[in-house]
Amino acid sequence: MSSRPDTILILDFGGQYCHLIGRRIREKGVYSEIISPGVSEKQLQKLAERFNIKGVILSGGPSSVYERNAPRLPKSVFHLGVPILGLCYGHQLLAYLMGGKVVRAKKREYGISFAKIKKAGGILKGLKKRERVWMSHGDAVLSCPPGFRVLAETKNAPVAAMANSKKNLFGIQWHPEVIHTPSGNKIFENFLFNICRCKNNWQPINLVNQAIKEIKKRVGASRAIVALSGGVDSSVATVLGSHALGRRLTAVFVDHGLMREGESEQIINTFKKFDLNFILAREKMNFLKALRGVKNPERKRKIIGRKFIKTFEKIAKRVKADYLLQGTIYPDRIESGHSQGSVVIKTHHNVGGIPSQLNFKGIIEPLKDLYKDEVRKIAKELNLPKSIISRQPFPGPGLAIRIIGEVTEKKLKILRRADKIVREEIESEIKKAPWQYFAVLLDEKTTGVQGDKRAYGNVIAVRAVESREAMTANFSQLPWSVLEKISSRLVNEIPQVTRVVYDITNKPPATIEWE
Ligand code: XMP
Repeated sequence: MSSRPDTILILDFGGQYCHLIGRRIREKGVYSEIISPGVSEKQLQKLAERFNIKGVILSGGPSSVYERNAPRLPKSVFHLGVPILGLCYGHQLLAYLMGGKVVRAKKREYGISFAKIKKAGGILKGLKKRERVWMSHGDAVLSCPPGFRVLAETKNAPVAAMANSKKNLFGIQWHPEVIHTPSGNKIFENFLFNICRCKNNWQPINLVNQAIKEIKKRVGASRAIVALSGGVDSSVATVLGSHALGRRLTAVFVDHGLMREGESEQIINTFKKFDLNFILAREKMNFLKALRGVKNPERKRKIIGRKFIKTFEKIAKRVKADYLLQGTIYPDRIESGHSQGSVVIKTHHNVGGIPSQLNFKGIIEPLKDLYKDEVRKIAKELNLPKSIISRQPFPGPGLAIRIIGEVTEKKLKILRRADKIVREEIESEIKKAPWQYFAVLLDEKTTGVQGDKRAYGNVIAVRAVESREAMTANFSQLPWSVLEKISSRLVNEIPQVTRVVYDITNKPPATIEWE
């Protein structure tokens, strides 16, 4: 394979599904890179040196082309001379720029709609006459620009898809990237392989050598520390760092006393074997003291984030490290509000706190453009133990955000036992365990009966979800028998627990964690 992979550039106009476009493309073995519409000509040239740019996709976004500050399409994108596909806002923008007519639709179209396919060729090759599509738009293209033809229409969008085959420009009003559009895959395949003529030979592992080289180049003769949490992301970042720097890398594992049962020991045993320096920072009392009396979830997160910073600062100074390596992945950055239009949902401590405040020459995030399942694939290729590859995502602030209200040692003890039972039962009873599953300890007490006596005890909520990249999730439909067994073990084995509830909310509107 050439060192410049066939690549599709995605211009991020702030749409919530932008990252899904990237995923769909990579799943098909083609590299994709998401860039800002503010990209300069020079930056585009640099990208063209690194990647074999075969096409451009314009994402959706919340703007209207008529807004004064609406994001625009830089001319230099046209100069690349590659096919361009506009989706939703990208479709409207393309129509507007090329001389078509864009209007406010009479009615905002949101959710499932049906597209009448007028020409099932080119970008819409293989589609049926009537296709179920997912729409989410206010503006609509009323008439095509000169040189384009209408390929599809919906009730509220007379130009729901259009093409100028001579110039290789395409626009689609609906969202082929979401699973609610069944023909979405076909549309991407048409664009990637028939129109852009991409080769499908990209794999996440291709990024490994590149990442090692980059770490070596940036750190030079200096030293770095890596924030190791034991999760698959920071573990992969640690192994890459170890390949790049050897003993000039120090992995710092902070035992904040908020880990699950047996977890710290497992992480220590795994990483002691690698070629790197390993420091276990025993900070349990320090963290618990800082959390005393704190009930507000965001305050808890911020306090834990700050404590992490202090610990890292202390150790970085001690080992004379100038750089910090982090296992930040793409969804972390989205949820922490990295793209222009998005808002902060929760302060993920590994992103929201550390980088901007720490006194390092640089922060290196080799996995920042990858999704969790891609990181898992790399972890497998790097021969990391199964316990790490398939380890459920576990939040940086640990059990502190699964204890509603104040965090105390007593509550941590109860939750650790409860979490172990939930994990044991699901892992032994269910062939393919859910994506994430855990226990939450509520702040309320409720009445129960234990051994003929009135009891007034704690409530445990069981949470189990199916997800692909944590951006959305559905609650798992666990068999009643498994839930019953979990419930009965929780109340029988943990005397403080008198009630068990099962969380049946999806994300959105809920988040996966309770705090
Ligand atoms: P939410 O609760 O935001 O969680 O739906 C999405 C995924 O992220 C994990 N999570 C975190 N991971 N630091 C992390 O490294 C954090 O502060 C954090 N908060 C939530 C969560 O477990 C789920 O997999």
